Amino acid sequence: MDAVNAIPVHSKGAPAGGVDELVRLSAADMQGVNALIAARMASQVPVIPALADHLIAAGGKRLRPLLTVAAARLAGSTDEACLKLAAAVEFIHTATLLHDDVVDSSKLRRGKVAAHLIWGAPSSVLVGDFLFARAFELMVETGSLRALQILAKASSVIAEGEVLQLTRAHDLNLDQATYLEIIQAKTAELFAAAAESGAVSAGVDETRIAALRAYGLKLGLAFQLADDALDYGGATETLGKNAGDDFREGKATLPLLLGIARSGPRETAFWERVIGRLEQTDADFRRARELIVGVGALEATLDLAADYAAGAKAALAAFPANPWRTALEDLADFAVSRSA
Ligand code: IPE
Ligand code: IPE
Ligand code: MG
Ligand code: MG
Repeated sequence: MDAVNAIPVHSKGAPAGGVDELVRLSAADMQGVNALIAARMASQVPVIPALADHLIAAGGKRLRPLLTVAAARLAGSTDEACLKLAAAVEFIHTATLLHDDVVDSSKLRRGKVAAHLIWGAPSSVLVGDFLFARAFELMVETGSLRALQILAKASSVIAEGEVLQLTRAHDLNLDQATYLEIIQAKTAELFAAAAESGAVSAGVDETRIAALRAYGLKLGLAFQLADDALDYGGATETLGKNAGDDFREGKATLPLLLGIARSGPRETAFWERVIGRLEQTDADFRRARELIVGVGALEATLDLAADYAAGAKAALAAFPANPWRTALEDLADFAVSRSA
């Protein structure tokens, strides 16, 4: 699990150039981050490293720690202060995945059977708590109260986003503003905090800290919008998680909301049954996907993602052109065009 594998999907159709460059630029730093991750998931209680390793050794794109490292380096950091923050960020992310797969009843994660199906939901939730706690130990070790504050706040916002989403699932009339509020909280906030805490560790001025936070926030929104499109337009094999999970959960994501809004009155009964009452057969996902694709809802979702990616890139204008800035610009494009 080295940094070269940080974005394993690249060879499967991601845009050439920038993402490879970001992985190359951060290879030494990410080796340090991965060593910290491996060391800090250790525990005398055997189920903890076994369960954590099941998920962590499966890889994942490591996007959030890459973001912390890249933000720190772009902001002029030359020391290793950002590595512990980056490891903490990945632990927070991993903890939310363990919890999320229980909440979403997801069966596949990072191409492997979801941990809760092997060790049970209680162990999965508790190991998630352990990883959260380890993240806080790492943050405290940095001595940066400000970085701790940023990532602690992000952790509570993520939980709020997940709960808000839970209470609004099956809502066929969810408005776009509330949808954006949910994805900002559950996903974009951690991207923002990952970049902001990296900038803080570099000791850069407030304008540039704010610029990197803005970059992370918009990148995160683009990333989750693309993720929601991939749930209908992507393939399980490349995603490493089951396409159609959102539909089976009745989750009110933008592709679905636009699909419902744009399909004719003849489809109203269908949507009310499969999402409103969650009464589904296996064939219903295919029909929903056809309707959603047919009315251009995936394109519209990806167009909005591209708008946020453009906003993310614009935020980087606060920095002089250099390889880190170019690599982060290309990461914004990758967030939208990715297939995994
Ligand atoms: C999954 O994030 C959760 C979302 C915010 C959609 P990633 O797609 O970054 O997951 P990994 O870490 O690469 O597996
Ligand atoms: C992603 O949630 C955000 C968090 C894990 C907090 P999702 O439920 O949308 O992501 P996937 O599709 O399971 O990766
Ligand atoms: Mg999920
Ligand atoms: Mg979820």
